[in-house]
Amino acid sequence: MASFVPRASKRLRLAGPSSPSSWVCNDCRRTFASSIRPRQQQQQQQHHHQQPTPPHPSQDDKTTHFGFETVSESLKAGRVRDVFSSVAANYDTMNDLMSLGIHRLWKDYFVRSLNPGIPPSTTSSPRGQKILDIAGGTGDIALRHLDHSTTINNDHKTSVIISDINPEMLAEGMKRFASSPYKPTNRVSFLEANAEDLPTIESNSIDLYTVAFGIRNFTHKQKALAEAFRVLKPGGVFACLEFTPNLSNPLLNAIYKRWSFGAIPLIGQVVAADRDSYQYLVESIEKFPSQAEFAGMIRDAGFLIPGHNSPGEGGLEGGWEDLTMGVAAIHKGIKPA
Ligand SMILES: C[S@@+](CC[C@H](N)C(=O)[O-])C[C@H]1O[C@@H](n2cnc3c(N)ncnc32)[C@H](O)[C@@H]1O
Repeated sequence: MASFVPRASKRLRLAGPSSPSSWVCNDCRRTFASSIRPRQQQQQQQHHHQQPTPPHPSQDDKTTHFGFETVSESLKAGRVRDVFSSVAANYDTMNDLMSLGIHRLWKDYFVRSLNPGIPPSTTSSPRGQKILDIAGGTGDIALRHLDHSTTINNDHKTSVIISDINPEMLAEGMKRFASSPYKPTNRVSFLEANAEDLPTIESNSIDLYTVAFGIRNFTHKQKALAEAFRVLKPGGVFACLEFTPNLSNPLLNAIYKRWSFGAIPLIGQVVAADRDSYQYLVESIEKFPSQAEFAGMIRDAGFLIPGHNSPGEGGLEGGWEDLTMGVAAIHKGIKPA
């Protein structure tokens, strides 16, 4: 079973040594403020990088997976947030190292396949498209949407909302956009939100909803799909780029698993001094549904699945398209008009 290292220090309030009601950790002799005293045992566990356990899980407490661990549903989003807070600063470099740069090709292809933007000759709409990039992180997909709509479709109006649960990931995205040509325009905005609940996004307001390498981290994936359906306009497109749990070729699958479980946590340890976050990232891929199961979930949310009923048409036979021998896959759904 994997252990995860919560960044406990961010959550603990340190008291000065002279604080009259401070307490001292028995193991490391650090001093902590009195306000956390009632939860001392739990906080000490976190401080020493152990998995905090909820004091008395009630019978209603549902569980889910966090990588290979089973955790209370109420804890998962916080644990995921901790992972991405931890990896945010190194995220882009680590992505290149772990995927040998291939994630860039997948992202390029994903965005190209969506052809974001509206060529001026085909519309009288002055507004372009409204795109929502969920779990947008450091803005890799959003930047491609804007570049494509501008350079390929000559559309200077299409805009993207980059939404993410994690403020540190968004902050990296903001830094990146600060030096982009889109900074002085109103074509990009940032929204800190859980994809499962997007109250500030109006129903039927979005033309294109994208989520890349994000949905496998969500606690309630079906709820997020229902939110995607709600916010999209009729005729709007849902598109997801995500790793798959298994390659179809058993030999390649075995080699790939060796690489991902052996090398990725090790690279995380060596480059980012954070083995456990990267261990979680590979474990979360294993727990993601198969392509067929996920296509079923998209259909259950109400979407029409392109190619689903007519195998052989286009690249989405069965409702998805495998990339690089099925290491990742693109899923699409269309909200019925
Ligand atoms: C692997 S990163 C992908 C970032 C970006 N889409 C990309 O392709 O480079 C996953 C992102 O999902 C975000 N995330 C995880 N759970 C989320 C949730 N429930 N709602 C919104 N974002 C979430 C994380 O904070 C993180 O930024």
